Amino acid sequence: EKVTVSIIKADIGSICGHMTPHPSMMAKAKEILTDKQKQGIIEDFYVTRVGDDINLYMTHYKGEGNKEVHTAAWECFQEATKISKSMHLYAAGQDILTDAFSGNVKGAGPGSAEMTFEERPSEPLVFFMADKTEPSAYSPILTRIFLDPFTTTGLVIDKRAKMGFDVEIQDVMDHKKVVMSSPEETLSILSLLGDTSRYAIKRINSRAGLGPACVVSTDKLNMTAGRYVGKDDPVCICRAQSGFPSVGEYTQVFQNTWLVAGWMRGSHIGAFYPCSPEDSNPVYYDGPPRICALGFQLCEGHLQGLEPQGVKGGDHIPVDIFGNNTWDNVRANAIKASRLMRAQGPFQPSILGAEEMEYTSRPEVLEDLKKRFEPLD
Ligand code: 13P
Ligand code: 13P
Ligand code: MG
Ligand code: MG
Ligand code: MG
Repeated sequence: EKVTVSIIKADIGSICGHMTPHPSMMAKAKEILTDKQKQGIIEDFYVTRVGDDINLYMTHYKGEGNKEVHTAAWECFQEATKISKSMHLYAAGQDILTDAFSGNVKGAGPGSAEMTFEERPSEPLVFFMADKTEPSAYSPILTRIFLDPFTTTGLVIDKRAKMGFDVEIQDVMDHKKVVMSSPEETLSILSLLGDTSRYAIKRINSRAGLGPACVVSTDKLNMTAGRYVGKDDPVCICRAQSGFPSVGEYTQVFQNTWLVAGWMRGSHIGAFYPCSPEDSNPVYYDGPPRICALGFQLCEGHLQGLEPQGVKGGDHIPVDIFGNNTWDNVRANAIKASRLMRAQGPFQPSILGAEEMEYTSRPEVLEDLKKRFEPLD
């Protein structure tokens, strides 16, 4: 029987602008999922957050896009939104874009990433979650991990990793996808992914028959809503070791200072700041974009962290991969790089190109100037 690992996440309001959900919202989600676990809808779960985004990690045997599982998450967000509204939190219900829930969060506002596979005898998982950025922020990182042998020695010395990976790329603007294979098509893959406003990695699969290696949430919120409703703040679930990149091969690339789109008003370029969920409040210019990495082992469909064996109900203690001083230099560099970008003010490349600006006053400015524009001599 194949296990499914799902993350469904949403920003449904936060304290002090776009900082952090209230603890009672997370407690409510935990209460609801405890119930869903008792009902046998999900096997196990963990509730966490990055910045203002509540993340529900769930394991189950119901497959991807399952109505009961998605409804469980939807209920958590509905109930937590009630709390958020009653407290007058900022942007309460931000990512809830419909009143008519159809049984799947796709197109309804929340983001989701799900993968289904045969659980191996030992199954290390790494959950990345980012705030104040977009799905394609993972593209340079995942290409370094899966396509570059100077990054991942496993691509050279692990015979199953050496068979390469299939990369599913989404065209997030035209709602199309294509699967390309590495290593043969590496350079063509990069020629698409370099355009981070259009292309993003959705999924990477083993070509050695191990199934999915990683999956990213790629829901384009603003395309769904037709107006600015915040960035998508993407998650990425990864399986590690033995034919996949090792945990360390996943984490190593975060020693690089990555520039990503998002940050203030979803309209700037800032540097990724790897940190613990506790340190994920976006305190500098609504950022810089935070990324957390939490590690678990899967054990017969359950999450095993540092808590005693058999603990259920979300009382897990994950390995907090970025929550230690190994990453202090990267955090310092991220602030330095972000300050450099801020020094450019409201000019590109500090702000995004016109099509990617999440909001702009330009249409009104142009409307006002309609009669004043004249032809060049
Ligand atoms: P160990 O010998 O510590 O298991 O390490 C193996 C490995 O693959 C590290 O990435
Ligand atoms: P979120 O997508 O995290 O809500 O950020 C919105 C924003 O505009 C921050 O400046
Ligand atoms: Mg927000
Ligand atoms: Mg957010
Ligand atoms: Mg958002």
